[in-house]
Amino acid sequence: MTDAPLPVVLVVAAALVDVDGRVLIAKRPEGKALAGLWEFPGGKVEPGERPEAALIRELNEELGIDVQEACLAPFVFASHAYESFHLLMPLYLCRRWSGLVVAREHAALAWVRPNALTDYPMPPADAPLVAWLRDLL
Ligand code: CDP
Repeated sequence: MTDAPLPVVLVVAAALVDVDGRVLIAKRPEGKALAGLWEFPGGKVEPGERPEAALIRELNEELGIDVQEACLAPFVFASHAYESFHLLMPLYLCRRWSGLVVAREHAALAWVRPNALTDYPMPPADAPLVAWLRDLL
């Protein structure tokens, strides 16, 4: 008998890059899966929602910022089989937003130079994206 395929979950994530070229990562809070690991902020795309609209909504909910869709550029896709679902996660580069970035849902935030991102333990889906970012920035 073959195993049933894992359900696919679509999550959108952002690499916010500041004027000094540092990237925002956010620490997952206690009580959630993968607590304590540093992720690119974002979240699940709701049924019927466009990925870009989902990312704009999530960045507002999690960080309190407003992003224009034209400022979002998808550039690499993460794909990782967790135990109970298969995560597909495009990472969008974002260099412009309005409002101050604050941690509304995360335990902490950090602005990190691309070369230093490997110092922060990340979920297995996020970690391979770091090499792409380093090459791009
Ligand atoms: O954060 P939460 O678990 O509430 O849900 P989510 O942000 O909608 O993400 C769903 C799942 O995707 C998380 O539980 C993680 O397993 C995974 N994820 C990830 O690996 N990397 C991210 N940057 C975001 C989510």
